[in-house]
Amino acid sequence: MPKKSAQATWGGRFAAGPAALMLRFSESVSFDRRLAPFDVAGSQAHAAMLARVGLLTAREHAAIHTGLDAILAEIAAGRFKWDVALEDVHMNIERALTRRVPAAAKLHTARSRNDQVATDMRLWFKHACAVLSEKIRAAQRALLAVASANRDVLIPGYTHLQRAQPVPLAHHLFAWLEMLARDRARFAAVAAHANACPLGSGAIAGTTLPIDREFTARLLGFVDAKGRPQLTQNSMDAVADRDGFVEFAAACALFGTHLSRIAEDLILWSSAEFGFVGLPDAFCTGSSLMPQKKNPDSCELLRGKSARLQGNLQTLLTLTKGLPLTYNRDLQEDKPPVFDSFDQAALCADVLTGTVAGLAVNAVRCAATVADPALLATDLADYLVTRGVAFRDAHHAVGAVVKLAEKTGTPLNKLSSAEVKKIHPGFGPDWAKVFNLKRALAKRAGTGMPGPAQLARQFTRWKKLLK
Ligand code: ARG
Repeated sequence: MPKKSAQATWGGRFAAGPAALMLRFSESVSFDRRLAPFDVAGSQAHAAMLARVGLLTAREHAAIHTGLDAILAEIAAGRFKWDVALEDVHMNIERALTRRVPAAAKLHTARSRNDQVATDMRLWFKHACAVLSEKIRAAQRALLAVASANRDVLIPGYTHLQRAQPVPLAHHLFAWLEMLARDRARFAAVAAHANACPLGSGAIAGTTLPIDREFTARLLGFVDAKGRPQLTQNSMDAVADRDGFVEFAAACALFGTHLSRIAEDLILWSSAEFGFVGLPDAFCTGSSLMPQKKNPDSCELLRGKSARLQGNLQTLLTLTKGLPLTYNRDLQEDKPPVFDSFDQAALCADVLTGTVAGLAVNAVRCAATVADPALLATDLADYLVTRGVAFRDAHHAVGAVVKLAEKTGTPLNKLSSAEVKKIHPGFGPDWAKVFNLKRALAKRAGTGMPGPAQLARQFTRWKKLLK
């Protein structure tokens, strides 16, 4: 048995310290040490507040503040000695501080690790959301650059993975920008929800000491747009609540799902069957057996990582669902999934940026594919509608025209006027004029449509949003 003095923070009522196996089982410092900058910020704000209300002298406060700065510098330099016997990041830092600053024994006044860790994590979520948002923005910019460089390229749009209607490549890329913009909005919402300071909730029921929660909240940046302090409103909820974890993991999981769909498009587009794009060598690998292969590994891993991001969300939902209020040690398992989601989501965003930045669009191949006149069959039905035919009838008539074209092996636009007129009298002599891509797109002028005027509007909008 280790000496009980190893657990000075709670060892008072114990006759023996934890077993070595128990220490190994229960430590979290191996993963929560990354919270050190947030833990130190929280402790410095807490110490400042204790000094303000007279629970620390100015001198004690100054010693604690400088001592914490020194510890953080040691940690940053990799010189800090982490000790699993001290369980977690909080106790490691406090013990190191107490060794050099005797007044540090007062630092935990009116505080519990329960409100401490809740505070650390809320600070971390705000930081993590800001980092991810910036990374996603970089990916959006890379996509906008591809769109700009290939403004005139048209491709078939697909439903059911069957050619549907022609669209500018940029319109497809802008669909991705919309998805990623929603992800950024979601991370902003998660950060906004995290913006309330739990400090002062104590272990569960606050404290009898005369603390100033507003002061601490303000120091830590838990403020609204007007600078007013934002506090959690129920001490029990504050230490039991893990909604922010679930929301963060959910935002990462949905971001991962978007990445997966984008990746899937790129995988298809880069296949010989499509040939719309070439992926950069730097983000592909070869086959050890087949010399001709160039595999879209970065995209496949983007698709694969999304499974992991979903798994982390599931872990958190399951972890929290059966827990009685308030804190339970189970909750220590809340951190590995969110840290992993952050790390993987950040990596994925960077990899998407890198892959997209090296994308080579094959304009010739795109043009050849989009030249398929069948892509404008719907426009032909619309043509009949403009000549007074009901859409259902028009749809049926054009279906028959397509069938004839297929049967005779004739391109849709090369049938004779007599042939189509025989199918439906609504077809006039100008029916084949429909088969002009430029004209077809120009007619799609409404908001959100892929016509040139709208596309120009979207280019302006995204350039402004992503400046
Ligand atoms: N390492 C712990 C965690 O992450 C800190 C809170 C400990 N609280 C307690 N009552 N043992 O959950």
